[in-house]
This record gives sequence, C-alpha cells and structure tokens, in this order.
Amino acid sequence: MIKTEWQHIEAHLPAWLEESRQAARRGKVADYIPELAHAPADALGCTLIDTNGNTTNAGDCGLTFTMQSISKVFTLLLALMDRGEERVFNHVGMEPSGDDYNSMLKLELVEPGKPFNPLINAGAIAVTALIKGDSTDEQFVRIRDFFRMIAGDSSIDCNYDVYASEHRTAHRNRSLAYFLKDNDVLADEIAVEDVLDVYFRQCAIEVNCEQLARMGMVLANGGYDLVTGQSLIPYRYVQIAKTFMVTCGMYNASGEFAIQAGIPAKSGVSGGIIALVPGRYGIGVIGPALNSKGNSTAGIDLLRKLSVQYNWSIF
Ligand code: DON
Repeated sequence: MIKTEWQHIEAHLPAWLEESRQAARRGKVADYIPELAHAPADALGCTLIDTNGNTTNAGDCGLTFTMQSISKVFTLLLALMDRGEERVFNHVGMEPSGDDYNSMLKLELVEPGKPFNPLINAGAIAVTALIKGDSTDEQFVRIRDFFRMIAGDSSIDCNYDVYASEHRTAHRNRSLAYFLKDNDVLADEIAVEDVLDVYFRQCAIEVNCEQLARMGMVLANGGYDLVTGQSLIPYRYVQIAKTFMVTCGMYNASGEFAIQAGIPAKSGVSGGIIALVPGRYGIGVIGPALNSKGNSTAGIDLLRKLSVQYNWSIF
C-alpha cells in the first residue's frame, strides 16, 4: 500500500531526528542569559501537526524551553490587532537588517532610531511597547493570554527564573531600548524599564514542541483555529508575520535558510524553532546548541532535511 506523506513522516521522523542530533556537536548552548546555559546541549525534539490535528512527536519533545525570539512573531500579531498596520510600521521597518539580532549598528544609519524590522531585538522592544494595557502586568497578561489562545493551552506561562536571569544581565537590550527612547520610537509616556520588563517576560514564556507546533498550525491555517474554525488572527496579519519569518526569521541566516528549507520559520536563543508549511503543517523544534547566528544547529539540519525530502519549499 502506498503511504501518505503523513504516514511516511510518522515512520521516518525518529530516524531523521537521530541523524540530525549529530549536528548539535557543531553548536553551543547560549549563556549570555545565564539561566539558559543549563539546557542539555545534545537534545533534539520535534513535533508536527497536520490540518486534521494529527500529531507526531520525536526525540526530546518532552523538554520545555522559553520562546525567546519566537515570541516576537506573536507579539507583533497582537500589536497589529491592537493598533493596526500603519501605527505599527511607523515604529518599526519591514526590511531584513543583515546583522546580528542584538546589533545596534544600523539603528543610527538610516532613519535614526527606527529599527529595521520587528524580529531583531530593537524592533521587538518597539513592538512590545505598542501592546495595549494600563500597566506592565496588564500588557504581559494580554500577551500571555493571546499566546495561550493561539496554542489552545491555558497552562502556558512565564518561566520567572529565566526572566530574572535576563532582567539582571540585559545590558545590551537596555542600551538598545534607551537609544529607542532617545529617538522617540518609544513614546513620551513609556518608561524604558517598563517596556523591557514586559519584553523579558514575553521572551521567557515557556512552551514545549507540541505547543509551538500548534501555534505554527494556526499560522499555517491562515489564522483560523483548527478545531472551531474560528478566525483567531486576521489573514492579512498572518500574511505579514509569515513574510517576516521568511525574510528575517533566522536573522542574518534567513537567506541561507530560505534557499535550503524555504519555509516560514522563527528561531530563539533557547534553541527553539517554530516553522510551518502553509496549508499543511505546524512544526515545533527544540535543539539548544546554537550556531554563530543564534539558530539551533540540529534544528536547522532537521528542518532542511524534512523540507528537501517532502519538497516543502514555498519558492
Ligand atoms: O533579547 C534577547 O536577547 C533574548 N530574550 C531573545 C533573543 C533571541 O532569541 C535571538 N534569537 N535567536
């Protein structure tokens, strides 16, 4: 009997994952946020979900990890829903920066202070400042509840050890945020430390591969909930998010990943990657060992392998 693609994936994912695990040796676990350094360097886990809600797990998918930069995609979506496209893109650009995620190089070069895109740290901080709420707690709760709704899981929350660890050591993000403030990208009434506090909490939201795959599935499904068919995110904003994932999701390795895998994806320094095959799959990956660009070495290897095998590239 001829196997469907899904049956083929289910049968082969564990072996491919074990092959890709070797690539973890080429990477290093992030330690600039000290709490992240405890993650197991050789771990690799992956979950795929299809449009029927079928789920397949392989490897260390029981591991929980903080979303870090993956959160930026969903905070951007909430900011777009809160404020609309015009207001958001007054504060942040739409172009890949070609620099590291925490770079300040281009901030002063083009339109002074306006970050190149919402997925680099400076841009993400500017976007977090746009989230509605009367206090930092209210802003964070709105972000957390939005993530819970997209993942369909009300247990999702912040890992406060990771949050505190970043809060203590984030000298570079502080300098980016103060620079934004100096250039009026952060409005008068916004205190820099307040925005950073929400941003650190958002980055420290903890998930597992399956929760990430479910979030990816909502994007793959055009913003619609798989079970209820209800629209959770307007399609136009899903389109914007997917485009940023392709052009900026893997930072200054986005071009290489687009050529090699060709699917929308977003990485985080915890080693997580969210990816999706439009109309077909949501994917969550964790592999804490990172390459020099801040992306999971084993995670990228596995996604590349899957995409080539099943011809997933959208290009
Ligand atoms: O702001 C930071 O540096 C972290 N909270 C997030 C950075 C990150 O995940 C970059 N991704 N590869």
